[in-house]
Amino acid sequence: MSGLRGEGGERPEVAERIDEIGTAPDPGAHGRPGDDAGSSVAGDDSPVMVATTEGRPDLVVTEESRDAARRQAAMLADVEHRPGIPKPDPVIVVDKVRRSFGGLVAVDVEHVEFQRGVITALIGPNGAGKTTFFNLLTGFDRPDTGTWSLNGRALARVPSYRVARLGMVRTFQLTKALSRLTVMENMLLGGAAQRGEHFLAALLPGLWRKQENLMEARAQVLLERFMLHNKAPDFAGTLSGGQRKLLEMARALMVEPTVVMLDEPMAGVNPALTQSLLGHVKDLRDQGMTVLFVEHDMDVVADISDWVVVMAQGGIIAEGPPQVIMRNREVIDAYLGAQHDEDDAPASGGPPPAARTSAAAATAAEARPGAVRAEAAVRDTEERA
Ligand SMILES: Nc1ncnc2c1ncn2[C@@H]1O[C@H](COP(=O)(O)OP(=O)(O)OP(=O)(O)O)[C@@H](O)[C@H]1O
Ligand SMILES: [Mg+2]
Repeated sequence: MSGLRGEGGERPEVAERIDEIGTAPDPGAHGRPGDDAGSSVAGDDSPVMVATTEGRPDLVVTEESRDAARRQAAMLADVEHRPGIPKPDPVIVVDKVRRSFGGLVAVDVEHVEFQRGVITALIGPNGAGKTTFFNLLTGFDRPDTGTWSLNGRALARVPSYRVARLGMVRTFQLTKALSRLTVMENMLLGGAAQRGEHFLAALLPGLWRKQENLMEARAQVLLERFMLHNKAPDFAGTLSGGQRKLLEMARALMVEPTVVMLDEPMAGVNPALTQSLLGHVKDLRDQGMTVLFVEHDMDVVADISDWVVVMAQGGIIAEGPPQVIMRNREVIDAYLGAQHDEDDAPASGGPPPAARTSAAAATAAEARPGAVRAEAAVRDTEERA
């Protein structure tokens, strides 16, 4: 068995407390069709410490949950590869969402659906609107127009903290760990519906101590999973950029989400940790969560995603499985347009083509890391084809 209990090597007493935590979710449901993230906040007598949604995924991968994830992905085999195509079992449905900043249209998405229980990569060149789109879906920004829903529940104008309680959480491209709190305190902030947060209740530890203990146990397990447990008492400000990314991801899991949105989760993470982080992302899906992630590294996209949605200039320009998307001419042009123009220019008196290309790539690598990493992957694919 993989997942928290399988990989974390956590202390027995923590496992015991996590067993207690894991009593409330319906192990068969795993956020599958029919659950309603919006309507089922657990009552005060629930044994769950982070009361969010019914039918939420457990923190372990089981044969059953893995099979369910495979079935969700298999449904995509019959889906046409074109932008805005409906999905057989969508968890998020977006219509006519537009956001402009002055004269610049950052996001203009006519229609897109995200399949439940699979990993979808959101890719596109720098400035395509991916982060803005995430901000809109999660309530961190307001669109000019448009509607979207989570499990059929309309989310427009729902504030970010409520979106998280409804089971949709996100991490940030630029991390937002609170540096003057410890790593453990950052984790505990991630828990929803904390009884001790109310002024009067805070004076009566009997009301919240058990819940807080359970939350600490969950935080401990998650920190072990992301190899941050030794840092629990340290200030988050002392973590490296990559460790902050890990902390954000761990913290997002404190609310037992059904949808996890990760904005460039691998960026800045130590290469030694990247592989295990990819494994954790796959585990999220295999535990029953829907994962939506932004990534520029096409090897990562090809490795872990079941479906890819491509943005350029605010709109969705392509959708499909990774192998198909990486050979899509429109996608290659969107990522590499400026680069191709540079390379196609007459070389009179200039350096030989190979040198021009690598010099241009080196310059562009600083300016447009996403485009260059994507270009390398596309070249590989074309050579292999
Ligand atoms: N708050 C803002 N004010 C003005 N312009 C903004 C703001 N936020 C984003 N933009 C602009 O909107 C466009 C989309 O930006 P966004 O950050 O969403 O792109 P992205 O696809 O995430 O890019 P990257 O891959 O570089 O992270 C860019 O042109 C950006 O400059
Ligand atoms: Mg971005």
